[in-house]
Amino acid sequence: MRGADGVAAVGAEGPNVARVYDFFLGGAHNFPADREAAAQVEQTWPQIRATARVNRLFLGEAVRYLAGGVGIRQFLDIGSGMPTMGNVHEVAQQLAPDAQVVYVDSDPVAVAHSQILLAPNPLATAVEADLLRPDEILEHPEVAGLLDLGQPVALLLVAVLHFFPDDTGPRHLVAQLRDALPAGSHLVVTHATGDGQSQQVTEAAEVYRRTTAPFQLRARTEVLSFFDDCALVDPGLVLLPGWEQDRRRGRSTTMEGRLPVYAGVGRLR
Ligand SMILES: C[S@@+](CC[C@H](N)C(=O)[O-])C[C@H]1O[C@@H](n2cnc3c(N)ncnc32)[C@H](O)[C@@H]1O
Repeated sequence: MRGADGVAAVGAEGPNVARVYDFFLGGAHNFPADREAAAQVEQTWPQIRATARVNRLFLGEAVRYLAGGVGIRQFLDIGSGMPTMGNVHEVAQQLAPDAQVVYVDSDPVAVAHSQILLAPNPLATAVEADLLRPDEILEHPEVAGLLDLGQPVALLLVAVLHFFPDDTGPRHLVAQLRDALPAGSHLVVTHATGDGQSQQVTEAAEVYRRTTAPFQLRARTEVLSFFDDCALVDPGLVLLPGWEQDRRRGRSTTMEGRLPVYAGVGRLR
């Protein structure tokens, strides 16, 4: 099967994480199997679309903060997904036209779509690689070719680590990536949580696990452990939405309307 843009729908017979998320964001890069899985998750947990949306908005806020406020010029976005609203290179290059962005995803369809979009952009590229093998990402010729890992990098792991159950060693994988980056680099993470949530969210995670991919909710302290060797930027690790609002005020404001996804930005020491 091929989409309208000629990209082969590799694995379109089963639901796929990147395409299910694309569907939740209202995108067009998804197939019937993805929409079926999405409907099952949504039935259990109607807030999933709102959660996907605030996650994506936070990604834009974090990139704007890093490119504009901090002056980061290199972005390594792992688990980047389908091109959709507010892509990292668009947000970063609007503020800093010389910003360099490498997207990494294990889904060949997401990578193919990204490569089509990025073809005219010499400062951004997309590569197919697996977060389970950080060395392959760091040593990938396109990563090494576009990014100078001796200079600060923003490492984006947004809505991807909850697809890594404990037995895959996510803390170690993130530590390997952090260790390859110099001080002054930043780590951006969002992660689904069951903290303070009804049974609904746990059930939705179970549906996700059954229909789409391994999925693990994590408590606050567990998500914080991904930021070892980092100083968290204000307002720290907070539930979305509200990171940007809390950052401007320097403290966490209302908890009303927060959704079960933690977000944080840490500066590597
Ligand atoms: C929910 S999407 C998040 C997309 C984007 N980061 C965002 O937050 O808008 C998760 C992405 O992680 C990718 N992913 C899952 N497991 C991966 C792995 N082992 N290595 C690289 N990418 C992976 C999926 O293919 C998918 O595109």
